[in-house]
Amino acid sequence: MSTALVTGGSRGIGRAVAQALAARGDRVAVHYASDRDAAEETLRSLAGDGHVVIGGDLRDSDAPSRIIERADAAMGGLDILVNNAGIAPLESNRHRPDETDLDAWQSAWRQMVDVNLIAAAELTYLFARRLIDRKAPGFVVNVGSRGAFKGEPDYPAYGAAKAGLHAFGQSMAVALAPHGIVVTSIAPGFISSDRQAPKLEGAAGDALRAQSPFGRVGTPEEVAEAVLFLSSPAATWSSGAVIDFNGASHLRP
Ligand SMILES: NC(=O)c1ccc[n+]([C@@H]2O[C@H](COP(=O)([O-])OP(=O)(O)OC[C@H]3O[C@@H](n4cnc5c(N)ncnc54)[C@H](OP(=O)(O)O)[C@@H]3O)[C@@H](O)[C@H]2O)c1
Repeated sequence: MSTALVTGGSRGIGRAVAQALAARGDRVAVHYASDRDAAEETLRSLAGDGHVVIGGDLRDSDAPSRIIERADAAMGGLDILVNNAGIAPLESNRHRPDETDLDAWQSAWRQMVDVNLIAAAELTYLFARRLIDRKAPGFVVNVGSRGAFKGEPDYPAYGAAKAGLHAFGQSMAVALAPHGIVVTSIAPGFISSDRQAPKLEGAAGDALRAQSPFGRVGTPEEVAEAVLFLSSPAATWSSGAVIDFNGASHLRP
């Protein structure tokens, strides 16, 4: 049995990951930003005992320290970190350069880079330092995005932050391998988390499904299955990988 911190575990992909880890027998710290009720709902849905919820808005620079400290204390040491929390593309943070003023541009960049990259980097640092002190192996799984490769013209800060997260994961894979810490990233295409449900209606939904030759979009449960593998000893030789997870909707050269 392992212990895991899943950031952004209150809903969507993070909730499915928390559920899959708990079903495997792991104890899970379910992190959320503001929606404690949703995090409690995730908690109630988890198999087994010993799970906790931990809040913290990753736009706050001291949040990563507080989150890791609380999760570490509650779990008696952490073995797995899933960097899943993210400020996702929403109509409210859309920032195409040709239709966005400078204030909105700066705000989108600060928030997306702060949460989706810098906070994940700091959580990884704090998590790894504790593992190194304990001389224990461990796993970091970053939830990146296909957008890092395909381009995000409406949300360039999102694409850039996710590309940074992938690159960060590769650097950490090299730096942390001597300590027995495996670091991977997964780069999902469109995934049908609740947040995305409205986009799947009508002709726009058909177009999204048509992006993949399978004729559908991915599910949070499928991402969770992949995270189960990536947080297991079988994934050791995958360390440094950025796993495309998009139903062949975008092939990298
Ligand atoms: N769904 C997709 O199509 C897709 C595709 C590629 C990559 N991804 C990535 O997968 C991850 C999860 O996606 P999702 O669709 O499940 O997202 P979601 O439904 O929007 O959930 C986002 C999660 O992140 C947390 N969060 C948001 N802002 C935060 C902040 N400032 N500080 C700390 N936590 C924060 C939320 O907590 P609260 O509930 O408390 O707000 C929530 O748990 C994200 O990193 C996203 O970029 C998703």
